[in-house]
Amino acid sequence: MRTQVGIIGAGPAGLLLSRLLQLQGIDTVVLENRSRDYVEARIRAGILEEHTVQTLVDAGVGERLQREGLPHDGVYLQYPGVRHHLDFPSLCGRRVWAYGQTEVTKDLISAQLHDGPPLLFGVSDVVPEDVDGDSPRIRFTDADGVPQVLECDAIAGTDGFHGVSRPVVTAGTGGRLWERTYPYAWLGVLADVAPSTDELVYAWHPDGFALLSMRSPSVSRLYLQVDPGERIEDWSDDRIWTALATRSALDGWELETGPVTEKSVLPMRSFVSAPMRRGRLFLAGDAAHIVPPTGAKGLNLAVADVTLLATALTRLLAGGRTDLVDTYSDRALARVWRCTHFSWWMTSMLHRAGDDFDAELQLSQLRRVCGSEAAARELAENYTGLPVG
Ligand code: APR
Ligand code: PHB
Repeated sequence: MRTQVGIIGAGPAGLLLSRLLQLQGIDTVVLENRSRDYVEARIRAGILEEHTVQTLVDAGVGERLQREGLPHDGVYLQYPGVRHHLDFPSLCGRRVWAYGQTEVTKDLISAQLHDGPPLLFGVSDVVPEDVDGDSPRIRFTDADGVPQVLECDAIAGTDGFHGVSRPVVTAGTGGRLWERTYPYAWLGVLADVAPSTDELVYAWHPDGFALLSMRSPSVSRLYLQVDPGERIEDWSDDRIWTALATRSALDGWELETGPVTEKSVLPMRSFVSAPMRRGRLFLAGDAAHIVPPTGAKGLNLAVADVTLLATALTRLLAGGRTDLVDTYSDRALARVWRCTHFSWWMTSMLHRAGDDFDAELQLSQLRRVCGSEAAARELAENYTGLPVG
């Protein structure tokens, strides 16, 4: 088999990269080790930045997003007795959309299988080789158990945190890793009940953080801060609803409850791997970085990576120029660190940890953001997504 860009991983990063390169006339093959059903069943976050939405629409995969996505002009920050709305358009001229990132993946897969380049599910034993030369290759076993070799001009490692690509990059470059694990996790819940607020509520509470989000006018997505070792079987639906109602309580308002259809405990970590390139192997998305979900940056950062990478690979493979691939890692990492800082800052401000001194610092920060247009603008600009590139 031969293609111009071999893409390892069919998550949002790999699928969107394939789409963007296809639009530039660059051939790709996407290799995914899981089944389509498995990939499309993964519960993911649900906020898209404005540039993410525009990128998907411009790439011709945003039709359902425009039909079903919920445009949001802001979020609420809450602490006991106060629920304050940040109005994004007035603060920074941008907004966000509530649309399940799982739905983004489904839309990308549907488009790829309809008229896109090859997308192979169920592969195994994927190994990138000869990435330091101009003719790298990917060895793998296809879904029928037949050993294959994909000859490429470049490889994109979009295979997530547990993928095979990052170790190849760090082994060949003496790469650096940075990691921060947090002393808490999120208990995530999907419930068949209409959201009780029009936009997301990020609530600080002495018992712990709560986030009220949504997937549609009839489906709520809710999160509770819990200990990292928390067992989901210790959290009955009643206990979950009681904790959510306590942490988001506000005079004159009530949290609507309903049937819980999914619940799971999600770990919280920050992770960055540099560089994001070794020769003709380029990392993008979770393969190179992980952010805590508080800032809703995971998918949006992956979209920023592949926006830069698609332009760089097109310039290399169609124009024979290496300037953008040579600077890709540094340009991508600049945004990775900005989003890593913002996600850490939002997480540290909102999650109970430490002692009463820490709590007073958090409340002071929250009052500052809710009381200062300058402080609110800094949150709004980062949350809605800084310009890419
Ligand atoms: N070979 C082939 N595919 C692999 C391999 C491998 N060795 N290892 C992992 N994969 C696949 C995974 O099954 C997954 O489908 O690579 C894909 C990586 O996708 P994601 O983990 O979703 O990562 P990414 O595409 O970077 O998504 C970025 O989007 O929705 C958010 O939370 C998500 O933060 C993540 C972001
Ligand atoms: C979600 O809807 O899943 C969601 C929204 C905002 C976040 C994290 C997750 O910050």
